[in-house]
Amino acid sequence: MAPKATQLLQSIEAIVGENGIFEDDARGVGAIIRPASSDQVSEVLKLCNDAGQSIVPIGGNSTMVQGTHRGRGELALSLERMSVIEEIDSESRTMTVQAGAKLQDVQEAAEKNGFFYPLDIGARGSATVGGNIATNAGGNRVIRYGMTREQIVALEVVLADGTIIPMQGKALKNNTGYDLKHLFISSEGTLGIVTRAILRLRTLPTSQCCGWVSVPSFEALTKLLTFVEGSSQGMLSSFEVLWAEYYEFITGPSCPHSPPIPYGDPYTVLIETQGMDQKENTSSFEVMLSEAFSEGLISDAVIAKNMAERDRLWAIRDDVNQAIQVAPIWAFDVSLAINDMEAYVDEVKTALNERWPKNSLFTYGHLGDGNLHLLPAVGDGSNETRIAIETIIYEGIRKRNGSISAEHGIGHHKTAWLSYTRTPVEIALMKKIKQTLDPGDILNPGKIFGEETCTILTE
Ligand code: MLT
Ligand code: ZN
Repeated sequence: MAPKATQLLQSIEAIVGENGIFEDDARGVGAIIRPASSDQVSEVLKLCNDAGQSIVPIGGNSTMVQGTHRGRGELALSLERMSVIEEIDSESRTMTVQAGAKLQDVQEAAEKNGFFYPLDIGARGSATVGGNIATNAGGNRVIRYGMTREQIVALEVVLADGTIIPMQGKALKNNTGYDLKHLFISSEGTLGIVTRAILRLRTLPTSQCCGWVSVPSFEALTKLLTFVEGSSQGMLSSFEVLWAEYYEFITGPSCPHSPPIPYGDPYTVLIETQGMDQKENTSSFEVMLSEAFSEGLISDAVIAKNMAERDRLWAIRDDVNQAIQVAPIWAFDVSLAINDMEAYVDEVKTALNERWPKNSLFTYGHLGDGNLHLLPAVGDGSNETRIAIETIIYEGIRKRNGSISAEHGIGHHKTAWLSYTRTPVEIALMKKIKQTLDPGDILNPGKIFGEETCTILTE
């Protein structure tokens, strides 16, 4: 290691202590810095900023877009030693946490205290609150509760030069000029390090109904969404759609799940409602599905009779790792208007068929949020294939005014495509904000804005 870098690490060690630094020699990347307090984060960043040392914040490592990719010599900053749930305030209905806390721990702590933290993603066991905030994570219940942004009351943030922006109070409302916290939510660690947060808690639902239905057409699917939104009286918490090709794969012979309902329809949907009275919830859920059946919106349905059955249905939806084993697979996360989705997915499939007659296209997503995940399994895994597939996926999004990233962010992976979703004026403004808050470009460099050409990264 160069003497200058060694000297910097020694100074950092003097701040964070011996336990606060981990040298990852095996991977040949820079050390992982593990501060134990906001003051330590501030001191470390000040040192790095003065030295022009790049630093990449890492959370639970569940990024889907290489959001924590590190170049040689770049340090990582982990808040794993800052995972304390500091307070649950029953009157204000808030939880104050350090940003290294795991999402699942937050969910469980809320529940133990009779509250509900509604953000939920498959990576709940590893993803951290700081990572959720940095990426504005979405997930399975956005349709009812919104994305991470909607769960945040206040943030403490450390800027690149070490300045600490303290947390505001616990009130939901604060219209006093620019709401700066929103700058940092979804900034992917490029503008500052979120060190603590005040989270908004909701009433803990005490009842839950979950069903899996099959739907005969896309028209019926959109009508079904409107119908269940209307008839579930505000209780709809998930509406997760699987296109047939994915449903047949994930419940087929190569996966450990069996199909809850027979194959044959183009779409199946996991529908969940959450309420406060199990008897009433169950009976209205059954009535709702039987009306949907009478209206021709669904052709078959199964309703979970207990938590074990509910968990089995959710496991089918959550087990996206199965698809990744069908190599080479490419994972996309896009958004577009719901009434554009059918044509868009058909167009993508046709384009894949033309170029790679033997292909799979796994499509599923949070339909109510306009959010689809597309996983084409094609080609040879080469960079050329990647660009060809990305062009197919993103051209269709651009012409429909959609977004190349609905909930996973841009990270390092999608930088070349940012202009498909953001105008030059917007990109210039974003760069100005970056330049103002991090003039030395030390925080997560190369993310969001990056090189204009695609390169495959192995990490
Ligand atoms: C999901 O919805 O399961 C996650 O966003 C991960 C993904 O499949 O892309
Ligand atoms: Zn998702």
